[in-house]
Parts: sequence; structure tokens; C-alpha cells
Amino acid sequence: MLFSMHLNYKNDYNQTVNTTTKMLDVSTVLVTGANRGLGLEFVRQLASSEPKISHVIATCRDPDSAEELKSLAKTNDNVHILKLEVTDYNSYDAFYAEVEKIVGESGLDLLINNAGILIPTPLDAVTPEEFMKNFEVNAVGPYVLARKLTPLIKISQRKLIVAISSTAGSIERSSARMGGFPAYKASKAALNIVTRTYGDHVKKDGIISVMFCPGWCKTDLGGPNAMLETDFSVSNMIKTISTLNADSSGSFLNYEGKPVPW
Ligand SMILES: NC(=O)c1ccc[n+]([C@@H]2O[C@H](COP(=O)([O-])OP(=O)(O)OC[C@H]3O[C@@H](n4cnc5c(N)ncnc54)[C@H](OP(=O)(O)O)[C@@H]3O)[C@@H](O)[C@H]2O)c1
Repeated sequence: MLFSMHLNYKNDYNQTVNTTTKMLDVSTVLVTGANRGLGLEFVRQLASSEPKISHVIATCRDPDSAEELKSLAKTNDNVHILKLEVTDYNSYDAFYAEVEKIVGESGLDLLINNAGILIPTPLDAVTPEEFMKNFEVNAVGPYVLARKLTPLIKISQRKLIVAISSTAGSIERSSARMGGFPAYKASKAALNIVTRTYGDHVKKDGIISVMFCPGWCKTDLGGPNAMLETDFSVSNMIKTISTLNADSSGSFLNYEGKPVPW
């Protein structure tokens, strides 16, 4: 069935937000780091998209303090808030059981590995500990989570894994500008290689694994001078997600679906 609904509007910065949900065709989604920034915006748009998504699982580290997420869940009965610290691997078995209870036999159509941190320490000062922290949150956690949830993704209709990466992880585009952000950049390059490699491994199961750069967005991580509003970036990423097919697997795309150089 080909669903298409257009709710275009201009945000406060004259950026066209296109909430087209054409063929997104998912009934279950999980977004990590969903209490603020891009993750929260993903949940906001997915929760209200048409046709209605049955279950939008929004994970965050501290559900008690996730006020905006809680108010979204109050007005959207398809939003479920689950606690997840992506580096707390000991919690993964219990977390998997909670997700399985929500999605049931439908499995998980779309995993959005969004949670991330930016340790901005410059090239001449970054510590080994900062490198390891950035790697763990941005690359190891998302990889282990994708692997853990694979049995649920495998039984779903759409079978999508999306990693929110960054052009900062592009080797071709890299420079020492602004101190270089070596820990962050290396962690995003690492996220790309593990997402692509794992994606290749699970291609046989029909799973499509893609990396996105959301653009420079106004969030706590992106800062107030960023170029894009979160609603603009997320609506475009959702639109691009709706077009993904087996040939897309292993791609590194910007929010508009254009390839980002490796
Ligand atoms: N904004 C940009 O310009 C931009 C550009 C390129 C890529 N990105 C990527 O987009 C993603 C979202 O970024 P954002 O701009 O929305 O950042 P943000 O506003 O700082 O939000 C980051 C989110 O990640 C969560 N998080 C951090 N560490 C976590 C952990 N160990 N376990 C679970 N959740 C954790 C945070 O939870 P807490 O609230 O608990 O800390 C928060 O929900 C990141 O992967 C980032 O690298 C952003």
C-alpha cells in the first residue's frame, strides 16, 4: 500500500519542514538518546506521523527527569519510554525483554542509534581516557545494541538499522580546524566502520544498515550557532529513511539522502 501525507510548513528560520511519511511503512521504532535534541525530535515526528506507527520506543538514561518525553507520551499512546544507558551492557538482557514485550511478533522495524556525545578537546590536549569515552558511547554502544536487537529486527517487515553519524567522521573531509575534535571524529569514523561491517554481515537476513549525517543542528551538542533546526533535519532524515532499500545498505548519507564522502 502506498501511503503519502504531506504536512509541509516553514519553521521560524524559513526552512521547509516536510513531514511526508510516504512509505515509511514501519510499525515499530526504537530511538536512543530520545530525551533531548535530535532523538526527541525523531520521537515527536514519528509519534504523530500518519499512518500511525504502533510503537515508538524512546530510550533515555533518566526517564524520571525526561519531562518533554513524558509529556509526549501523555498525548501519544504509541510512545513508550524505556531506560537505557548505551554503555551499560549488563542491562541489555533486561532491556531486550522489555522491547520484545512491547513489539511482540512484529519485531523491530527501525532502530535509530542516535545517542552520542561530543568531547571537543583539541588535538594537542585530548587524553586517552577521552578517546575511549567517545569511542564507547558513539561506536561500541551502538554496535553492541544493534547486535543485541538483531533477532527482533530480523523478524520485522522493514528491517532497518540507522546510525546517526557525522560528516566529522569523514576522513576525506577531515581537517585540524577548530582544534580537530579528534576523539569525536575518530569515534564517528569508528561508528561508520562497525555499522557498515555489521550491516554487511546481516545483509543475508534482509537487514538494511545505513549511516546518516544530520547536518549541523541546533541542539546542546551542536550549539546555538548551528545552521539547521532539528525539525528540518529530522523530517528530511525520516523522508530519506522511507526510501531505503537493499541497495542503500552500507551507505553514508546526509539528511537529504545524498552520499557523504568516506
Ligand atoms: N547536533 C549536531 O549538529 C550533530 C551533527 C552531527 C551528528 N550529530 C549526532 O546526532 C546525535 C544526536 O545529537 P544531538 O545533537 O541531539 O545531541 P544532544 O542534544 O547532546 O543529545 C544527545 C543525546 O544522547 C544521549 N546520550 C549521551 N550519552 C549517552 C549514553 N551513554 N547512553 C545513552 N544516551 C546517551 C543524551 O542523553 P542525556 O540527556 O542523558 O545526556 C541525549 O539524549 C549524536 O550521535 C551526534 O553525534 C549531531
